Amino acid sequence: MLVKGKKALVTGGAQGIGREMVLMYLRNGASVWYIDLQQGDSFAEYEAAARENGGAVFFREGNVADEEGITAAAKGIIGDAGGIDILVNNAGITRDGLSFRMSAKDWNDVISINLTSAFYLSRVVVQDMFLKKRPGAVVNVASIVGVIGNGGQVNYSASKAGLIGFTKSLAREVASRNIRVNAVAPGFIKTKMTDKLSEEQRAALVAQIPMVRLGQPEDVAKAALFLSCDLSSYITGHVVHVTGGLGM
Ligand SMILES: NC(=O)c1ccc[n+]([C@@H]2O[C@H](COP(=O)([O-])OP(=O)(O)OC[C@H]3O[C@@H](n4cnc5c(N)ncnc54)[C@H](O)[C@@H]3O)[C@@H](O)[C@H]2O)c1
Repeated sequence: MLVKGKKALVTGGAQGIGREMVLMYLRNGASVWYIDLQQGDSFAEYEAAARENGGAVFFREGNVADEEGITAAAKGIIGDAGGIDILVNNAGITRDGLSFRMSAKDWNDVISINLTSAFYLSRVVVQDMFLKKRPGAVVNVASIVGVIGNGGQVNYSASKAGLIGFTKSLAREVASRNIRVNAVAPGFIKTKMTDKLSEEQRAALVAQIPMVRLGQPEDVAKAALFLSCDLSSYITGHVVHVTGGLGM
């Protein structure tokens, strides 16, 4: 019950890492609002976790890259919740390809969904925490490739490196109000995103990981929970690598 009574807003909460985060917050006593393009298949499971732990769960359909829509959705959620304590910018996509052949659309889509969305949401949610003198925690889901790079992912790694810079700058802006802004940088985690890899690609990846396995979405959710609760009360502007040692 590390976040009992807290109110969390999670983007991309319908599946994958976001799904485990929604469940992790609910199992630890929070109420969760999640924004995604679709509700996903886990809503009944979320409701059961909410019921068992004294919280509630709400879904809002929305595209995090749509400035007007996402701003309105965030304002609506703040109104309904009476303020947000935890913001998790998790929604993200890949559009991989070698840089010389990459379309401007694939570049721009990845930057707007993975990076600009965190700016849109923080502008509303963190401003509200700041003005109401409400302590809070922001967790941005970056990636180890934003730190070490990855061929075929100039757009994705730029978006995640950008998110790390965003995290540190925002952390400096709001630290004096006890609003902490951190990032997690997952390595290779077993989700639909990595299920697209061939067996050979997967074996080559695993060979580079000191812990010799892909991570589980839950491994990332645990780090996000830690950064959202009192256990990390004096940690801000930090990037926690959840990589099994990759990129250390
Ligand atoms: N899977 C990995 O190995 C890995 C590694 C490092 C970082 N990450 C990051 O973790 C986060 C979650 O990834 P995942 O593996 O769970 O991916 P996923 O594709 O399984 O889930 C992403 C979720 O975000 C939602 N989403 C996508 N675009 C959206 C938009 N425009 N508006 C609202 N919601 C949108 C999707 O509908 C989906 O529910 C992403 O930011 C990703 O970059 C993943």
